[in-house]
Amino acid sequence: MWPLIIVSFMLYFEPCYQQFPRLCATREALRAKECCPPWEGDGSACGASSGRGFCRDVEVSDQPDGPQYPFAGLDDREKWPLVFYNRTCQCAGNFMGFNCADCKFGYFGVNCNERRESLRRNIFHLSRAERIRVVSYLNLAKQTVSRDYVVATGTYREMENGSNPMFADESVYDVFVWMHHYVSRNALLGGPRNMWTDVDFAHWAPAFLPWHRTGLGNSSRMGMHAALHVFMNGSMSSVQGSANDPIFLLHHAFVDSIYEEWLRRHRPSPSQYPESNTPIGHNSEYHMVPFLPLHRNREYFVSSKDLGYEYSHLLDANQRLAESLRPYLEELQAVWPWLLLAGLCGGIVVVAVATAAVTAKRRYRGSPWLNVSRWKNLFALPERQPLICSSDAVETSQRNYQTVM
Ligand SMILES: *[C@@H]1O[C@H](CO)[C@@H](O)[C@H](O)[C@H]1NC(C)=O
Ligand SMILES: *[C@@H]1O[C@H](CO)[C@@H](O)[C@H](O)[C@H]1NC(C)=O
Ligand SMILES: *[C@@H]1O[C@H](CO)[C@@H](O)[C@H](O)[C@H]1NC(C)=O
Ligand SMILES: *[C@@H]1O[C@H](CO)[C@@H](O)[C@H](O)[C@H]1NC(C)=O
Repeated sequence: MWPLIIVSFMLYFEPCYQQFPRLCATREALRAKECCPPWEGDGSACGASSGRGFCRDVEVSDQPDGPQYPFAGLDDREKWPLVFYNRTCQCAGNFMGFNCADCKFGYFGVNCNERRESLRRNIFHLSRAERIRVVSYLNLAKQTVSRDYVVATGTYREMENGSNPMFADESVYDVFVWMHHYVSRNALLGGPRNMWTDVDFAHWAPAFLPWHRTGLGNSSRMGMHAALHVFMNGSMSSVQGSANDPIFLLHHAFVDSIYEEWLRRHRPSPSQYPESNTPIGHNSEYHMVPFLPLHRNREYFVSSKDLGYEYSHLLDANQRLAESLRPYLEELQAVWPWLLLAGLCGGIVVVAVATAAVTAKRRYRGSPWLNVSRWKNLFALPERQPLICSSDAVETSQRNYQTVM
């Protein structure tokens, strides 16, 4: 099971964990239900003066949900993000982000018009230096307080409908852990221990795929993904806390690569993603909980290439070959000065030994030690019996070197 799980990992992962933008976690923003922070570039809300985006009313789909969650108006995640905000930045062109400061996945540059594809590599095919880098980034993410995002520590009701904001600073990594918890936690029905457990806005149903951009699994009781969470003991075994385990990232990258293979093999049309009657949070037009800026499930029912990344094992044969040689070449690059040095030292030793031998030979010419045939005899093997002996030779116990055919 283990080797299966630790297969893929995005090498140059840029954490883009999107939760309550710090600038929208204020009393004013919550009371006005507006999350349209200024873009640093020109100071206008959503970068509107530069045409990056505009502050607009949020439209949520009115497609019916399935019967699994029989309540309405109880949970903050229903009709996301309307409980908190009804106006957010809607970005134009290739811009993205809660204030349209970032580029859409796969786009780079100041004006977000450079298209670049990144490669997700098998973690076993990383060179030592790359593996160290991955771990360093994980450590950095775990230790750096997120500049842009905070996490909610209470429900909207507990925040007195926004008059009393309850948010906390977390590290970049823990913001992500918190999001995974928030999307899959039980619904709080009011009052102590009064919870509805049969709800999960990101697991057990189709939105799982786009939410994690990950795999399709099916067993009689649970999806393969959730089953795996439970199988892996430790913090991975509770779906809600699982993101706390670094293996989570590897696991999801791997599941996402299976999803990608499936998409390429079957090329589903967008309409094949269910539009209605899925468990709450899973309809194609539902805004994924708890992302801000907003993303709809449907937008991630597309090939990873459209989102700017590719998996190394899905490359064509030539590229795969180059890819599998790459770590060795890279290691070689790191050690070549040493190899060169070792070669030079070896050369010097050989020359020195040869010179000494030649000098010695001249000086002791005629000495019995330098009698070559004497040395030859010393190492010569005794004569052996031929492999094929004639049978009568054995009988006469006479060694006969003539074979009888
Ligand atoms: C958004 O919320 C604010 C504050 O509750 C309210 O005044 C406004 O009418 C709402 N706008 C829409 C379009 O629902
Ligand atoms: C919050 O809003 C709800 C419904 O809009 C209302 O019933 C409740 O009294 C409000 N709570 C506070 C603390 O304002
Ligand atoms: C999942 O598996 C169950 C039984 O193992 C089956 O009844 C159900 O149709 C399957 N669902 C899908 C979407 O394949
Ligand atoms: C998890 O625990 C169960 C029961 O203790 C054990 O059978 C299983 O092998 C464990 N799984 C892993 C991945 O260690």
